[in-house]
Amino acid sequence: MEKVEVSKVVKEVQTPFYLYSRSQITDNFFKFSQAVSSLDNLICYSIKANGNLSVIKAIAELGGGADVVSLGEYKRAMKAGIDSSKIVFSGVGKQDFEISESLKCGLLQFNVESISELEMINKISSNLGKIAPIAFRVNPDIDAGTHEGISTGKADNKFGIPLNDALKIYQYANSLNNIEIVGIDVHIGSQISDLRSFEKTFSHLSKLLERLKKEKIVIKHIDVGGGLGIKYSDTDSVPDIIEYGRIIERALGDLGCKIIFEPGRYIVGNAGLLVTKVIYKKSGEKKDFVILDCAMNDFFRPALYGANHRIIPLKKKFGKILVDIVGPVCETTDTFLKDHKFDDIAEGDFCAFMDVGAYGAVLSSEYNSRPLIPEVMVSRSEFHVVRKRPSFEDMIERESMPEW
Ligand code: LLP
Repeated sequence: MEKVEVSKVVKEVQTPFYLYSRSQITDNFFKFSQAVSSLDNLICYSIKANGNLSVIKAIAELGGGADVVSLGEYKRAMKAGIDSSKIVFSGVGKQDFEISESLKCGLLQFNVESISELEMINKISSNLGKIAPIAFRVNPDIDAGTHEGISTGKADNKFGIPLNDALKIYQYANSLNNIEIVGIDVHIGSQISDLRSFEKTFSHLSKLLERLKKEKIVIKHIDVGGGLGIKYSDTDSVPDIIEYGRIIERALGDLGCKIIFEPGRYIVGNAGLLVTKVIYKKSGEKKDFVILDCAMNDFFRPALYGANHRIIPLKKKFGKILVDIVGPVCETTDTFLKDHKFDDIAEGDFCAFMDVGAYGAVLSSEYNSRPLIPEVMVSRSEFHVVRKRPSFEDMIERESMPEW
């Protein structure tokens, strides 16, 4: 990774650990911003994909903003140096303390998803003597053709306000004293490979904008969400980023608005490895298994979505074995690849999961009382542990045993 031998990192940091490339993150950000450079734009990196402070800092240094969905993410963004005027606050269930703290410290806009939330924001901003900038997230009822666990733009998903109700909800918001309408927002799903679903969505948006304009409701920001897919395997087809930029330019380019983007996976997905060690190999009656030292609690995408990630040995191997690659957790879904023609790896050898920079570490847990694994970042020929592994004591000491 960059100028660092992964096998050197393995000598200093105990596996399993995540390993990120800073220059890959900056390259991805640069490619994205090039593709949308003809637009007045702001790239608000979606922190949920990877919330490590060093990752966010790399993006802050490039002028990026942040898309946050909790006060925790908001605080991470601020700590890593993102300017509060570049933070959009998304999510269906913002709570009063999250709204008031972010209003006090500042933000670009709340992406509002219901009338109740709008009224809550109005009440809090009135109490604080503020005017809250808001956009509504509309649900365009579009099937983006992704895994159903990550689809968000269909009418039966919990997200956004129905497109058909948008006009009257905007009119209602316009009548509230402590609300300033600044934008419109949409996000239809993640790992999207077919650009046509974006195209359809943007055409709905531009029609809605015209109707709002007739009602004298001024929209300054169009937030088009995230969702661009990346290549996890040779057979995955991925959207062309330049074409994505052109589609937006055609649909929304001449409306005089700032276009906000919320990419997550595109910025960090291919910038992360998960480095792990083979603990044992074993032969079952019907199958052979390779047992790794990382498990579903460390990397959840395979168990959660049936996602397949390439796993490659750190040292070249000759010959192949047919195996299931599994972790040590006591669940059958703790399986990373099934019936896989794997390199003929030995016990004690190291290997790496590819493309786990997005929705990797952030989805991990301590299931089976396994402490969270470290995150390490490489930049050129240096590497640093950017989140250390807690000790067993750290993990256990958070709990108490009251004398009842
Ligand atoms: N904006 C909003 C409002 C979102 O909900 C998301 C992702 C994004 C932006 C960023 O989307 P991206 O560019 O990363 O596709 N855990 C799943 C993905 C869940 C995505 C949730 N929302 C996975 O591992 O595939």
